[in-house]
Amino acid sequence: MQRPFPATLLYGGDYNPEQWPTEVWHEDMRLMKLAHVNMVSINIFSWALLEPEPDHYHFEQLDGIMDLLAQNGIMADLATGTASPPTWMSHLYPSLLPVTREGVRMSHGSRQHYCPNSPDYRRKTAALLERLATRYAQHPALKMWHLNNEYGCHTGSCYCENCAQAFRVWLEARYHDLDTLNFAWGTNFWSQRYYAWEDILPPRISPAQNNPGQTLDYWRFMSDSLLACYRVEEDLLRTITPDVPLTTNLMVAFKPVDAFAWASHMDIVSFDMYPPITARPSETAFSHDLMRSIKGGQPHLVMEQSPSQVNWMPQNPHKRPGRMRLHSLQAVAHGADGVLFFQWRQSKAGAEMFHSAVVSHDSSEQTRIFQQAARVGAELRRLAPHVTGSRVQAQVALLMDWQNWWAVEYQPGPSSRLHYWQLLLSYYHALHDLNVAVDIVAPDSDLSGYRLVIAPLLHMLRPGVASNLEQFVARGGSLLTTFFSGIVDQNDHVILGGYPAELRALLGIHVEEFDPWTKEMTNSVQIAEGNMQGTYPATLWGELVHLEGAKALGVFSCDYYANHPALTVNRFGQGKAYYLATQGNDELIAALTNHLCTEAQVAPVLNSPTGVEITKRVHSDGSELYFLLNHTDQPQSVTLPAGCFTALLDDKAIEGQVEIAAVDAVILRKNP
Ligand code: GAL
Ligand code: ZN
Repeated sequence: MQRPFPATLLYGGDYNPEQWPTEVWHEDMRLMKLAHVNMVSINIFSWALLEPEPDHYHFEQLDGIMDLLAQNGIMADLATGTASPPTWMSHLYPSLLPVTREGVRMSHGSRQHYCPNSPDYRRKTAALLERLATRYAQHPALKMWHLNNEYGCHTGSCYCENCAQAFRVWLEARYHDLDTLNFAWGTNFWSQRYYAWEDILPPRISPAQNNPGQTLDYWRFMSDSLLACYRVEEDLLRTITPDVPLTTNLMVAFKPVDAFAWASHMDIVSFDMYPPITARPSETAFSHDLMRSIKGGQPHLVMEQSPSQVNWMPQNPHKRPGRMRLHSLQAVAHGADGVLFFQWRQSKAGAEMFHSAVVSHDSSEQTRIFQQAARVGAELRRLAPHVTGSRVQAQVALLMDWQNWWAVEYQPGPSSRLHYWQLLLSYYHALHDLNVAVDIVAPDSDLSGYRLVIAPLLHMLRPGVASNLEQFVARGGSLLTTFFSGIVDQNDHVILGGYPAELRALLGIHVEEFDPWTKEMTNSVQIAEGNMQGTYPATLWGELVHLEGAKALGVFSCDYYANHPALTVNRFGQGKAYYLATQGNDELIAALTNHLCTEAQVAPVLNSPTGVEITKRVHSDGSELYFLLNHTDQPQSVTLPAGCFTALLDDKAIEGQVEIAAVDAVILRKNP
């Protein structure tokens, strides 16, 4: 059963009162009200205080915090506190500490120093959580569980003996017998054959590159191991507090954790958002679209963003005025129903004392940061009744697959310059510039609701993926895929008989050879006619493509494959399948994306000047909300569709044209 999202826009942050005397807690309550905070995440790193010595639990301080929140009407996103075991635990159970690929056992002294396959860690987390959950099950402040914190952060993989043993169990469950494993890993290569399960190791450091099948399975196994830790907590909580929703804060662009596999175990998807100051607005938009999509479009939550600077980059500039507010409204614009900060009050000591917080070191409510946070809090409160219940609706899907990511970036591969995330972003940027709504979905998901599917670098074809794409196109959809796609199966074995294997009929092409370029090598794509006509620089990769029914829309302009196809289109059933055999520059990707959207009759939400992002959220009764976000430093104006609108942040009636100040947003409700 799905436990519901609290029916409001959530606002608040990580709250660590254990770092402060109780007088400060009372001041915090006063300030939280000023900032319109309605939820805080507590107890994230409190294990050492809850269990100061083995099996002796002390919840008195946490009782006080929970009571204070309840008295002040603030909801608790109560963390299970399992991300940082107490120091005594690593003395008592040394094998709980994680081991690097080089074989170095890590020490405690920072955080997240646990091996996900340590039986001691799992047992101790369950023992703590059982007490914690039982104690607070009926507490009025408890509104959400926050399991652990950023699973895999700092230790996305461990290579210890616990993990080696658990890996063997995982492999036996996957392959049943050694012959099947030997086949899957191709172990007749380099004399790697296994004759006993005990001989199998994690891909620890070795003289040359580790077996690709073993490496890929280790990625799968590590994501599953972290998920297994989550599931220990999940199972307990679903029994003890069946009505309280569960979340954990995922990290974006985080290779070790396959978020699609995790989503079904979370009631609410939440994630932490720390864009560098140079990030384009589309990068944060992409994170939101991914997090919204992994749970089928249900509202997600930004569990952490920084009110201003962070402390962990080489240099940490603060967020310029208005930017945090715009990021917060952008989150809502892309389907989030809440935005929280790391953290509420800036620490006085510890590794994060120079990380910004809503309440900074001068403890005042007069600071720029506090004032801005209070403004955002007031605005979210105002928006909440209009926004909650509405959803983003997309007709375009961008395909994303963690297993593909793990396989395609195996090194040494054909090119060290293949960065799957960046290639996905290159297509997302173009869609974002068009103000087209996008879902980010797995290649084996139901595509029937989409008109256009873009699948950059779909290197691995897991079972059913090719037929899923064929059905999508046959029924009238438009598909674009790109170079180095359709190369391997789920075992990371090359699919023989010519690339792109199972996609060959769909794309109507045959790729004879692929050619990963050095940084110095370039080429270009020449498109002789039509709305994409032009010559576009290309980088990264070229291919020797033969037509087998497809038509060449563009050709390479030089090198020995000059005049050979670079961009192709093939009619398949009612639809069309495109293939781009290189990485085009931004202009080519923009032209292509534009062409595909037009052809697939995918309309932008609205047209806007460069740097103005527009999204729409729709209620089940069809009523619409438009979010217009001006990311530029100049005022901008946008032409609205026919009808009367109300600007929800200031209640003004608007028709025809709307002005948006620099670094500002306008949120419009279309009046019936
Ligand atoms: C997150 C983490 C928080 C805090 C924050 C600082 O990764 O969950 O506890 O460390 O980063 O930016
Ligand atoms: Zn381990």
